[in-house]
Amino acid sequence: MSLPPLFENRLSIPVIAAPMFLASGPSLVTACCKSGVVGTFPALNLRSTDEFESWIVEINAELQRHAEDTGEQPAPFGVNLIAHKSNPRLEADLAICIKHKVPLIITSLGAISNLVDAVHEYGGIVFHDVVNARHGKKAAAAGVDGLIAVAAGAGGHAGDWSPFALINELRQFFNKTVLLSGCLSSGSDIAAAQMMGADLAYMGTRFLGTQECEASEDYKQKLLASSAAGIVYTPAVSGIPANFIRESVEAAGITLGDAPKVDLGLELEEARDGNTSDSKPWVDIWSAGQGVGSINDLPTTAELISRLTTEYRQAHQDQHARVATLRN
Ligand SMILES: Cc1cc2nc3c(=O)[nH]c(=O)nc-3n(C[C@H](O)[C@H](O)[C@H](O)COP(=O)(O)O)c2cc1C
Repeated sequence: MSLPPLFENRLSIPVIAAPMFLASGPSLVTACCKSGVVGTFPALNLRSTDEFESWIVEINAELQRHAEDTGEQPAPFGVNLIAHKSNPRLEADLAICIKHKVPLIITSLGAISNLVDAVHEYGGIVFHDVVNARHGKKAAAAGVDGLIAVAAGAGGHAGDWSPFALINELRQFFNKTVLLSGCLSSGSDIAAAQMMGADLAYMGTRFLGTQECEASEDYKQKLLASSAAGIVYTPAVSGIPANFIRESVEAAGITLGDAPKVDLGLELEEARDGNTSDSKPWVDIWSAGQGVGSINDLPTTAELISRLTTEYRQAHQDQHARVATLRN
């Protein structure tokens, strides 16, 4: 078990609200941090590095205001950097994170030791997404502070390993922070993730269904109507296997099984800027994890976190009661 000092006494529940392309913005991030959950967003949600910097300034100012008004330390926030060769913004966006000392950097699709060293230099920490043990070993060698075990059923670019298999293998060679990602929706799911050996829960889809999330109203209504049976795991949209709401994939006329060549730079640019009349991945083709079946309302972020906190504490009490019925 290992929790970086950065999080000590600043979280109300052991949760990171995961970065989501075109869905997490300053409102969701600051609402999370004020309620004691780590809020995050992808740097590529913005068209340019200058716009990205303006979000960092806005988030820092809002969290500082909150601390002054309430005397309470908010949870730290984080930024997701896509460390893939097709991301031309990596270096410039990292420079902004260094300039503003962003507390947590989450890297996906590549673990780079130079990046880790640069973040450590200013006192930040780096967590890295992994879908199997091989990726985990590479990231551990690059010196990351935490591994995010992205298990089967997770929203976005997901893995296909059972969470038990993934956590147990990662724990055999990694004794720093481990996070579990994939279908975590309730406070008892968070408690279960810790029972399995994770230090923190990493939740995306559940936070899509909040008032502050920037997903469109149609997307949110579709989340309410969907269940795991309506989620399809396919490389057909972006070349990297990801989970999407099947109806939105079919509506876009995409044939499941056809995998385009990976060009994340182009894919993200088209999604954000939308110069074509075609359906755009992440905008019209909606990603969600298999946890959608547990989303039955669209609360404010503060209401959701308060509910998760109550459920988490109740789950621990229930577990104590179960253990008490066992013979010695
Ligand atoms: C709509 C959506 C967009 C996402 N975009 C990103 C992203 O830009 N970068 C990233 O690292 N992960 C992204 N993810 C994955 C999440 O960070 C996280 O791993 C995942 O949502 C956790 O699984 P869950 O959705 O079942 O809770 C995205 C997920 C969703 C649902």
